[in-house]
Amino acid sequence: MENKRYYITTPIYYPSDKLHIGHTYCTVATDALARYKRLQGYDVMFLTGTDEHGQKIEDKAREAGVTPQEYVDAIVDGQGGVRDLWKLMDISNDRFIRTTDGYHVSAIQKIFKKMYDNGDIYKGTYKGKYCKPCESFWTESQLKDGKCPDCGREVQDAEEEAYFFRLSQYADKIQDLLENTDFLEPRSRVNEMVNNFIKPGLEDLCVSRTSFTWGVPVDFDPGHVVYVWIDALSNYITALGYDNDQYDDFGRFWPADVHIVGKEIVRFHSIIWPAMLMSLGLPLPKKVFGHGWLLLDGGKMSKSKGNVVDPYILAEMFGVDALRFFLMRTFPFGSDGNFSNELLIQTINTDLANDLGNLVSRTTAMVGKYFGGLLPAGCGASQDEGQLAAACARADGPVPFLTAQEPEKFDAELITLAAGLRDKYQADMDAYAPHKALEEVFAVIQRANKYIDENAPWALAKDMEANGGRLAHVLYNLLEATRICAILLIPFMPGSMDKLFAQIGAEAAVRTWDSAAAWGSLSDSAAPAKGENLFPRIDVDKALEELERREAEAKKAALPDVEVEPQLTEQVDFDTFCKSDFRAVKVKACENVKKSSKLLKFTLDDGTGTDRQILSGIAMYYKPQELVGKTLVAIVNLPPRKMMGQESCGMLISAVHKEKGEEKLHLIMVDDAIPAGAKLC
Ligand code: ME8
Repeated sequence: MENKRYYITTPIYYPSDKLHIGHTYCTVATDALARYKRLQGYDVMFLTGTDEHGQKIEDKAREAGVTPQEYVDAIVDGQGGVRDLWKLMDISNDRFIRTTDGYHVSAIQKIFKKMYDNGDIYKGTYKGKYCKPCESFWTESQLKDGKCPDCGREVQDAEEEAYFFRLSQYADKIQDLLENTDFLEPRSRVNEMVNNFIKPGLEDLCVSRTSFTWGVPVDFDPGHVVYVWIDALSNYITALGYDNDQYDDFGRFWPADVHIVGKEIVRFHSIIWPAMLMSLGLPLPKKVFGHGWLLLDGGKMSKSKGNVVDPYILAEMFGVDALRFFLMRTFPFGSDGNFSNELLIQTINTDLANDLGNLVSRTTAMVGKYFGGLLPAGCGASQDEGQLAAACARADGPVPFLTAQEPEKFDAELITLAAGLRDKYQADMDAYAPHKALEEVFAVIQRANKYIDENAPWALAKDMEANGGRLAHVLYNLLEATRICAILLIPFMPGSMDKLFAQIGAEAAVRTWDSAAAWGSLSDSAAPAKGENLFPRIDVDKALEELERREAEAKKAALPDVEVEPQLTEQVDFDTFCKSDFRAVKVKACENVKKSSKLLKFTLDDGTGTDRQILSGIAMYYKPQELVGKTLVAIVNLPPRKMMGQESCGMLISAVHKEKGEEKLHLIMVDDAIPAGAKLC
């Protein structure tokens, strides 16, 4: 095991909101790669976690009325949180780091101090834009139309004392690393980094902030907190025990074999991170792989756009493995891909229900039907030509494809393809192209299904005495091809493959990486047993309808319990306010307005001695009879308006808010002791 170690990481996720299918994509891909390496016998360390500091989290916590720690605890450890999601998705991470973990925080302080002591971090002045009311610093690019992105007010030029990292000093080394090694993949990302960031001139990086407090404090300069990316990137080494006593795996696993990251954070991982490691005198990771985004309607999913897809709903409806498979099978890993529910269902139906599911259920059912569940001994071995010819001569009726050569041709095609699958798959997986690896596997599965049709087992079975041997051999070949494919599908669908192995009678010894390249490993006395349908076919229309219902339900559940309109900031002067005449009014009569589902017509005593008529659009909130006799509040000096042909003289005052997104309205009712006509002021 000495040199067979493998360290792979996902980005650590911002727990500012619940994670969506895009985050799931990234984690499932990393999990599949980690499981692939384990299958090959590597001693794997697979790290994931959460990146919990920074202004965004501080702001979110404030909005939610909790402390930042309480806020992140709920999203990371709470029900339906990050850990729950990874458990649900069968993510096999060996370690989970939170940047609020004590050992990480103190290690960050040491790392920052080391870089300060070696002169790579220095104190300077951060020039930016300042919004006084928000007490926030912004960079030019963060501004919205030149104004504060939070409140929209004017900002001013300002300066803040801050620490800087001498990133500029590493520009040449980083350019060399990117251009002359295969450190960063896909290769297209190299040009992007060099042309957009390095060639225009790499500036020193501001690595401390004083404008918020939710971060790792710079212990030798109170008031400063460490810039989140220094804190976040270092997780890859602190989680192994670098500068802390929590773990002792740094020597075993560093440098990392690969950091899997999304394309928008390639810049941090391929420029800042290697420069930090150079500054610390540490070896660089062997590779950074930048995958693409899952897009929805052509745009990136994000909570603020309200276009996120909930992995919980998809996994619940279609199964965890089907979802994992879809993500890896459909989208070329290095490029963007358009997510859609239709595509998900179509992939499950075509690949899993039709191709793989049918192969397994047809084969195991035939072993049961024709051989009572146990193939005859020796059926794995190739039949000699004489036997085949004899079998063909005795075949029942004209079965043109049962010639002496053809069965062998079919066998040879299937066997060659299946036996050579592992090596092709390995090349694809090693090139971070899981979608291609899966394409290869499904080419074999499709070939195996074709092999069933070519050999027409049902025709062979008509004369078992003559063709039983051939039939057993055909079924054995199908089981064996299925076994090899299933081994290579373990990294993608671990739970389902366990069940599949049990159905085809493959013991642990023939579920291994080595045996995936050894055709004939399955014992010919294996006892397949038709089991549950692993991938049931999905009714597209019904599923889409159900998805829509669940998504709407989840959206509603995520809405705040009570939502009130923000207060107006524009002021009215007192005299203007006094011009509005609010009066207590008593309801003498109330009825629905004909042909209107919304309007109620009120006859009101307003203290003047003449009845006042007001129409109000509140019929969905009140029944007319329940309001008669109540004392309400009306503004009486609005100009009269016609509604549905009737005049309304004034407006009744009510309180409005939303509950779980639903509009609620309550008429303001006052004490009946207040006489009609009393002025409210
Ligand atoms: O970037 N499709 O965290 P994060 C594919 N904390 N991948 C997506 C995606 C989508 N629609 N949306 C997000 C951070 N991701 C930092 C990382 S690492 C030291 C610090 C991916 O939660 C995204 O590309 O915003 C990124 O790789 C990962 O989810 C975490 O994003």
